[in-house]
Amino acid sequence: MKISRTLILVASTLLLIVQGCTPPPSIAPTANETPLDSARPMKTYEDLVVGFAQIGAESEWRTADTASIKQEAERLGVELKFMDAQQKQENQILALRTFIAERVDVIGISPVVETGWEEVFQEAKDAGIPIILVDRSADVPADQYVTYLGSDFLEEGHKAARVMATLTNGNAKIVELVGTLGSAPANGRYKGFREILKSYPDMQIIGSESGDFTRARGREVMRKFLQKQASVITAVYAHNDDMALGAIQAIEEYIKIVSVDAARGAFEAMIAGKLNATIECNPLLGPQFFELALKVVNGEAVPKRVPSVESIFFPDNAAKILPTRKY
Ligand code: AHR
Repeated sequence: MKISRTLILVASTLLLIVQGCTPPPSIAPTANETPLDSARPMKTYEDLVVGFAQIGAESEWRTADTASIKQEAERLGVELKFMDAQQKQENQILALRTFIAERVDVIGISPVVETGWEEVFQEAKDAGIPIILVDRSADVPADQYVTYLGSDFLEEGHKAARVMATLTNGNAKIVELVGTLGSAPANGRYKGFREILKSYPDMQIIGSESGDFTRARGREVMRKFLQKQASVITAVYAHNDDMALGAIQAIEEYIKIVSVDAARGAFEAMIAGKLNATIECNPLLGPQFFELALKVVNGEAVPKRVPSVESIFFPDNAAKILPTRKY
């Protein structure tokens, strides 16, 4: 990127000398671009020392994000100083100060929340270390970071609401599992969803609470929603997949399911925690039927009613019994 831009600049300068005209606007850095420092020697990936202040490991998404950063640094030969902040802003601030003291070339950060960064970002700026916001934005003056690489969270909220409207025919009582309070994705997804809901008067949010983007909290919050208003909830809006998976678990735990047959599929469902009990209705009637048939043909007496031998099965010993099941 740097090389190509420099080449273009050299080429356009030559053109200017030849043609004596102003450079095309696409070549000059725009107001949003960082001007090239021509005196500075070009670095390669192998020269780069990058500090990355990651939020934590709250979700599958975050794990994938961390793996992507680490794998790419390794592939390119970049020296990466990686810090996992355990979901705490103070740890991320500490990481930034460490990176500044170590004089890294660039700092990447996914700010856990949007506010409270001005002081430390200014310290990085004063030290001449550029900051790139990765995944999450921060509420700071535009001159305190170079660029923001990430998704449009407001638009994600819009999309979620439109899909929910389609799925529910515009009629729903929704409980919402909000992400980490004060974080850019939680703020955007919260606001965006509501903006679209304004056009759907029969869609109402009847509960909204933070599940901190984790599966455990998603399950806990969903449990509370169910205890309070299970009979009215018709839809769940989760700000991330992990909280949705936690909510699914809570819903499965809340709703008790008992069925009849005791087929193998029921044992598998009990092992997976999806079924609470199955009452056996034995279909393996062949042996008893032919025994009765022979007796009847031979004039032997048979009882007027021959019951099947049956049992009731529960999740606690489903795994042990499954291999013995014949249907
Ligand atoms: O900032 C992106 C969000 O953070 C993802 O949606 C979520 O899963 C993660 O924890």
